[in-house]
Amino acid sequence: MTAVDETIKRVTARRVWDSRGRPTIEAEGHLPNGIGGRAMAPAGASTGSGEAVDLRDAGRAHGGQDVTQAIGGIEREISPALDGLAVTDQARLDQVLIELDGTANKSRLGGNALIAVSMAALHAAASLAGKPLWRHLLGAAPPIVPLPEIQIFGGGAHAGRRVDVQDFMVMAIGASSFGQALDWTADVYRAAGVRLANRGRLQGVADEGGYWPVFDTNEEALECLLCAIEDAGRTPGDDVAISLDIAASEFHVSGRYRLGLEDRELDSDGLCELLCGWIGRYPIVSIEDPVSEDDTAGMQKFTAAVGHRVQVVGDDYLVTDATRVERAATEQSCNALLVKPNQAGTITETRAAFDAARRAGFGTIVSARSGDTEDVTIAHLAIGWGAGQFKVGSFSRSERMAKWNEVLRIEEALGDAAVFAGRDVLP
Ligand code: PGA
Ligand code: ZN
Repeated sequence: MTAVDETIKRVTARRVWDSRGRPTIEAEGHLPNGIGGRAMAPAGASTGSGEAVDLRDAGRAHGGQDVTQAIGGIEREISPALDGLAVTDQARLDQVLIELDGTANKSRLGGNALIAVSMAALHAAASLAGKPLWRHLLGAAPPIVPLPEIQIFGGGAHAGRRVDVQDFMVMAIGASSFGQALDWTADVYRAAGVRLANRGRLQGVADEGGYWPVFDTNEEALECLLCAIEDAGRTPGDDVAISLDIAASEFHVSGRYRLGLEDRELDSDGLCELLCGWIGRYPIVSIEDPVSEDDTAGMQKFTAAVGHRVQVVGDDYLVTDATRVERAATEQSCNALLVKPNQAGTITETRAAFDAARRAGFGTIVSARSGDTEDVTIAHLAIGWGAGQFKVGSFSRSERMAKWNEVLRIEEALGDAAVFAGRDVLP
């Protein structure tokens, strides 16, 4: 029997379009015998300053967002550098990508180029093994189907800053399967839409498919969400809980937190107090980036106050970086990691951050970006790595639904072996 050739022969890339109608990269890794893998880079809008940087063409085409240079880099530099490497050795090929780029923030070849290639190679490895990606990653580990965190109202940078808080989400913690969690969330999403329509406040959807928020205060969105859960016939806090992504870096100006909707400014303590008040009045189980990415003292104070009962998630604060996760564990500045592969720039670095979070006893939430595509790689990572939680945006727009639907398929394939993460993944 001849050995299977597992070496990469060529990497190609094309320009495709993301959910905001902006150019992005689709990369393909090619092995002999027609085997290969394909992946697309997503893009954030409320990005952390420590993230891998996308390479975008300057100039007039597509508002300076074009990716022809990044694609050129894949074809001219990355493809020859990966030629002949074993696709099964993800760590080695990611290391080659990192060294070839040569910058601390991946700005030379672009985080968008690197993550598309890194994920395409991962798909090619699964394809070579003849397995779906989630099963290839899972190996002999027990299969855990994640608890979904689903946006109902979008705000912040995803909705023209119409409200300051970025994501008002639900987590169906009382559901007994992923499928049931989606059923309940669909009811809440519909009920919220009916409520807005009845008050003449239905104005379409924001970047991630949540309703465009027309509220007079940030808290009014929480009240409306609570009522929508009840309208859907669910018990708030028991069946369906609330989670928030404050994305506070976005309204942190000169050391103060400026709530534009309410025309007032708070200091770090004031913002923590406001959030603690909400936690007292609403069934909130998770809060992401409660203060700005550079406000470690605020993160520590907030985690000390509520971290025993509420998940405190670092997104902009941790930017999927293992070193930052380790520091946060020492400093006790949060207790969960948002896992966004394109913040890190390669699969290996994403996994390192994930492993650091696990060692620290942190929760782990695999996440999409506000600019995303029909690519469903992250659904496979969430299950293949046993993350326990999955955040993809809202319950509309097909770049979101593609990922929820992929988990449904995997849950079905697992059958009786599927273990739904449920409320136990939260503090
Ligand atoms: P982004 O937002 O993809 O625009 O950065 C998502 C988030 O903050 O979780
Ligand atoms: Zn976030």
